[in-house]
Amino acid sequence: MIVIAILNTKGGSGKTTLSINLMRALQYLNYKVILVDTDPQGTLRNWHASGGHTLVNLIAMDRPTIDKNIHAINNEFDIVLIDGAASNHDLMRSALKAADIVLVPTKPTEPDIWGSSPVIELIKERQDFVGKPYASFVITCRNGKAKDQIAAREAMNEIGIPCLDGMTTNLVVYHRGFSTGKTVFDSTDDKASKEMMAIANEIREIIENGENKLAGTARK
Ligand SMILES: Nc1ncnc2c1ncn2[C@@H]1O[C@H](COP(=O)(O)OP(=O)(O)O)[C@@H](O)[C@H]1O
Ligand SMILES: [Mg+2]
Repeated sequence: MIVIAILNTKGGSGKTTLSINLMRALQYLNYKVILVDTDPQGTLRNWHASGGHTLVNLIAMDRPTIDKNIHAINNEFDIVLIDGAASNHDLMRSALKAADIVLVPTKPTEPDIWGSSPVIELIKERQDFVGKPYASFVITCRNGKAKDQIAAREAMNEIGIPCLDGMTTNLVVYHRGFSTGKTVFDSTDDKASKEMMAIANEIREIIENGENKLAGTARK
């Protein structure tokens, strides 16, 4: 069982959107996935309650004991996908302790990248301490201008955490899924679902071929 935590101290960075859609993309790659809603606001639970979807496994853990409670999850699942809460450091620390992989969704602007520094500090602290989790940025909500995305990647590189090649574009289909309880895979336009599959394939690569990445220090 691999635990992937989607974390960023900054609210609105795209954590829940990535959790919902990455869950479905990983299912398409034949992984059995369970979502963990750690946000006391229960955004993921609200999404689930708005219905319209099938094959969703979802539990809530919004106390800072995620690292302990995660062991109660049935081993039949291949991937536990944790949707992080913003600005609650205790919850974030316990998610970090539980995680093998951390994804940090970040919009590609400097204020957004700077805004992620509290979670980056916690990740680096943890990596220095126990040599994991493997961590990577994921660019979300990009506007399609290549130069903005390149500048963002440079800024992330300076921070010393890699960035996935896959990213999400600012598309209404991501936004719409929230109120309708859908994922981007329910849309007839496949642009967003292709973006999600690219991200999921990178995750698969990390899981299957990245044992040294997962076990060792990912920091450069
Ligand atoms: N790629 C995207 N394109 C368009 N809207 C997006 C995208 N990613 C996120 N959003 C929107 O941005 C807002 C914040 O996203 P959310 O996933 O709730 O962030 P967080 O969980 O980090 O607070 C939501 O309204 C969501 O619909
Ligand atoms: Mg959220």
